Amino acid sequence: MCGIIAYIGARPCRDILIEGLKRLEYRGYDSAGLAITQTIGDCTTHVCKTVGRVADLERKLEADEPTLNGTIGLAHTRWATHGAVTDPNTHPHTDDRGLICLVHNGIIENYVSLKKLLEEKGRKFRTETDTEVLATLVSELYDPDHAKTGGMDLEAAVQAALREVTGAYAIAVMSTRDPDTLVVARKGSPLIVGIGNGEFIVASDGSAIISHTARAMTLDDYSVVRLTRDGLRTSTIDNVELSPKVMQLEIELGEIELGGFEHYMRKEIFEQPRALRRTMSGRLNHNEGCIVLGGLLAHAKELVRSRRVIICGQGTALNAGMVGEYLFEDLARIPTEVEYASELRYRNPIIEEGTVVIAVSQSGETADTLAALHEVRDRGALGLGVINVVGSTISRDTDAGVYLRVGPEIGVASTKAFTGQVMVLTMMSLFLARRRLMSGTDVSAFMAELARVPDHIEAVLEQDDEIRAITEKHIGRENWLFLGRGYNYPTAMEGALKLKEISYIHAEGMPAAEMKHGPIALIDEGMPVVFIATKGAQYDKVMSNIEEVRSRGGHIIAVATEGDEDIRRVAEDVIYIPECPEPLSPMVAVVPLQLIAYHAAVLRGHDVDKPRNLAKSVTVE
Ligand code: AGP
Repeated sequence: MCGIIAYIGARPCRDILIEGLKRLEYRGYDSAGLAITQTIGDCTTHVCKTVGRVADLERKLEADEPTLNGTIGLAHTRWATHGAVTDPNTHPHTDDRGLICLVHNGIIENYVSLKKLLEEKGRKFRTETDTEVLATLVSELYDPDHAKTGGMDLEAAVQAALREVTGAYAIAVMSTRDPDTLVVARKGSPLIVGIGNGEFIVASDGSAIISHTARAMTLDDYSVVRLTRDGLRTSTIDNVELSPKVMQLEIELGEIELGGFEHYMRKEIFEQPRALRRTMSGRLNHNEGCIVLGGLLAHAKELVRSRRVIICGQGTALNAGMVGEYLFEDLARIPTEVEYASELRYRNPIIEEGTVVIAVSQSGETADTLAALHEVRDRGALGLGVINVVGSTISRDTDAGVYLRVGPEIGVASTKAFTGQVMVLTMMSLFLARRRLMSGTDVSAFMAELARVPDHIEAVLEQDDEIRAITEKHIGRENWLFLGRGYNYPTAMEGALKLKEISYIHAEGMPAAEMKHGPIALIDEGMPVVFIATKGAQYDKVMSNIEEVRSRGGHIIAVATEGDEDIRRVAEDVIYIPECPEPLSPMVAVVPLQLIAYHAAVLRGHDVDKPRNLAKSVTVE
């Protein structure tokens, strides 16, 4: 996905746009660009764009447009979908007549047919992008002399163009011929409008707005907003007036600053204890022996009587959902399955009476997860969300949900979001267990252990240097295996994903038993194999699997329970974690794996927070 920021008001917007892009760069960072309309003498719109990071754009701007400034502009940081990563394909895009300037996050699915129609009308194209087609379509419909002719103004032209497109979009549009109007719109991709004093800052998420204002307006799909220095008008693409939905952004600036850490990922790994305490805050009623999840109360009876739970998500959210599957069946005794949202949405699922779907998503904007939620809800399921970003699209499209409250996650590799998602799923399973078969005493005992998880994570974080040393021993190895059983099979999956996505080392996670059914062939002398070998029901089985790997030359790195001396007999490296009930162990056992991935990326010289080819949230399918 990409990052969009736009401004209209009384202040010069060059620095506002650049600073906003820096806040949004985690959303995509293949290339960046901005356009500003300045009204010195004639109105002129200047576009500056470049492959690379926002810092590269800043340098190019200094060199090419040192004096460019104006009080209306738009900017974009790109994660390429259509068209290679080149300067011409970088946003903003203009049409061949130079009337329209536009930035876009999403995919125009019917851009080829639209491009053909526009070429038949004599329009010329200079890029491979779907976005240029949209800009040209708006230009074709827009009448710059609308004041005299009664033709389509910018708002009407954007509405008309969007009625012709299929796909997902969040756009900001301006025209040299109308420097007092900014039009924005969304469908399927996030966009919010920050409401300042006599100014509007439009962005893909609140992190680029909060330093200017905490008042923001969320947009539903098919919304179009016309912004001028005097105010705003919200309508649908069919020009039906809408009343604005204003909210307060709950972001603290400190939460989105690095705060002395070298990388956001490191900051977010180390803030997990504090983040999880916030996740639990006010939700553990130890006296009554129950979990308090206000967002679920209205549906408690339906949940208690539910006959099946489907948990869906992608990536890390899916791995957290896999822990949820064990929790819901083990503690709440509800038949539960977990699925890739991208598969669930297309497989024509059977959804019988009493089905609950839980969409897990840090950003609340992942296109496949959103679509799967819609699909299963349309078939009658109750839709719940386990989401981090307040007011995000998925959170608004569920019947109810529970927010993670771990604070903004900027690092592309999810860390505190994973432990936050598992914490929320644990509380949800106890919320239901208490209403189905678990006594208050048993729930209280569980909650006491749950409250200690942040302390356990702190104990693991103190081993950071040792974990770095273990990682360094294997930094030249190109293939790793991560193996676990039971609750920690998903932990192994998450450890492998972390290593892959930021160090670019190939890694596979799987159930420890599965390794014998083929992957054991991969093991060669010195291959790093990480076992989650914490005390639990299948400990002895894991020890057997370790022996099988050792006998083939694998190098064993074990995550084990404090006090376990047996493990030292079979593992070259041991990372100890404090003892805790097996259902709670993924939140602790994952931390060494997060640190292994982090150190591997740093040791290999990669950009930890902006790994190649990735973006923070995949809002395209
Ligand atoms: C995790 O480290 C990745 N960044 C990615 O797999 C992510 O978890 C996935 O894209 C889902 O994102 P979401 O939680 O925002 O829906």
